[in-house]
Amino acid sequence: MSIFRTKSVERSVQDTEAPEHQLRRSLSALDLTVFGVGVIVGTGIFVLTGQVARDTSGPAVALSFVVAGVVCALAALCYAEFASTVPVAGSAYTFSYATIGEFPAWIVGWDLMLELALGGAVVAVGWSGYLSELLATFGIHLPASLAGEHATFNIPAVLVVLALTAVLVAGIKLSSRVNLVVVAIKVTVVLLVIVAGLFFIKGANYTPFVPSAQPTPAVGGLKAPLIQVMFGISPVAYGLAGIFSGAAVVFFAFIGFDVVATAAEETRKPQRDLPIGIIASLVVCTVLYVAVSLVVVGMQPYNRLSRSAPLAGAFRAVGQDWLATVISVGALAGLTTVVMILMLGQSRIFFAMSRDNLLPRGLAAVHPRFGTPYRITIIIGVVTALLAGLIPLSALAELVNIGTLFAFVLVSVGVVVLRRTRPDLPRAFRTPLVPLVPALSVMACIYLMLNLPVETWLRFLIWMAIGIVVYFVYGMRHSRVSEDRAASAG
Ligand code: ALA
Repeated sequence: MSIFRTKSVERSVQDTEAPEHQLRRSLSALDLTVFGVGVIVGTGIFVLTGQVARDTSGPAVALSFVVAGVVCALAALCYAEFASTVPVAGSAYTFSYATIGEFPAWIVGWDLMLELALGGAVVAVGWSGYLSELLATFGIHLPASLAGEHATFNIPAVLVVLALTAVLVAGIKLSSRVNLVVVAIKVTVVLLVIVAGLFFIKGANYTPFVPSAQPTPAVGGLKAPLIQVMFGISPVAYGLAGIFSGAAVVFFAFIGFDVVATAAEETRKPQRDLPIGIIASLVVCTVLYVAVSLVVVGMQPYNRLSRSAPLAGAFRAVGQDWLATVISVGALAGLTTVVMILMLGQSRIFFAMSRDNLLPRGLAAVHPRFGTPYRITIIIGVVTALLAGLIPLSALAELVNIGTLFAFVLVSVGVVVLRRTRPDLPRAFRTPLVPLVPALSVMACIYLMLNLPVETWLRFLIWMAIGIVVYFVYGMRHSRVSEDRAASAG
């Protein structure tokens, strides 16, 4: 069937070698790891830790991080093989096009908008939370309707997205040096929380470590995790179930290791260095996350953690205002680059999709002076800004997670498919124990998806249905691969 036509791996690689599309290969494995940590550490650890501990997992939020980290490790082993085999920007979209076919690839590309554009919005909302917290220390109190988790229109979040859009349009690259500085600040702040926080831990805050399961407003109605509804359990927060529903939310904190794969065309030895970069950044972040969350829930009773700036809030609660200020400043710097890289990743994917004519080719137009895909970037910026302005953080984060987990499922399937269809391709990194590891990855991702709320599933299904309509109305008819086929047949 033509909607399952594939674009050969050779063709994808060839497209990137066209001189007008060529990117400079300068990144090493270490650069990729730094880049990875730069995009991974963000709102997940700085904000969601507090919300999840309060509403879903209690002090056991640290175990939620472990569960999410294990799921990501399985998916990362699959991403590493694909990135080493098809080292082309466009990530899961390009990979699916080369393996499963055009329609699934479109679905992934459409789905990745949830991860990248919407993810950018989530991090911008987190940024706004830390800004309010910081300003409050100087006695400036932003009205709750204009900033923070319950804002009607979150102005700081909108402004930061628009400012970063301008930066991206002007083609100001996040040079590896700037990135290195920001990552250093961010990691230092995280280490500061761990080390300084140790002195303020109270053993009593760890009991009970896993609070007993109970129904709460946080899991009422459409907010109930799908899996609990499926099995007819009346929905509960905390307890063992809470650890897993918490994992499905803090999964957000790990998003980004897959974005490392989008740097394929800028990497000196992609086949060797991409797998190292992906896996190393994931390992570093998992260790930091588990440590930070253990410390923070030890500093303050979980039900009193701040919703918008829990790391800074915990230090303020123990009377260390200046440490709280340092943490807020570091978080603001750190979150800025996350928003920027996520939006950049989104523009790369859109660019790849319009290069294949699945989206209007005119969108991929490059600005005559700045040399950037400015139309795509502006559209993404405006949409992301609106989302960040209007929707509360946790609702957005869950939608980002379901979208990302779905992409992981398709990539894991793709690894097995490509082993069958193209056993000949050189693979610098091979996922161990195929098909067992990809199968476990698929099951683990689906399991986390099922732990997300019913309303998240509804939003996800509606979004994907819109995508399917767009494909049949537009992409299927304009696809460049189908044009090429027609031309070579004729
Ligand atoms: N993992 C990134 C964050 O937590 C997206 O902000």
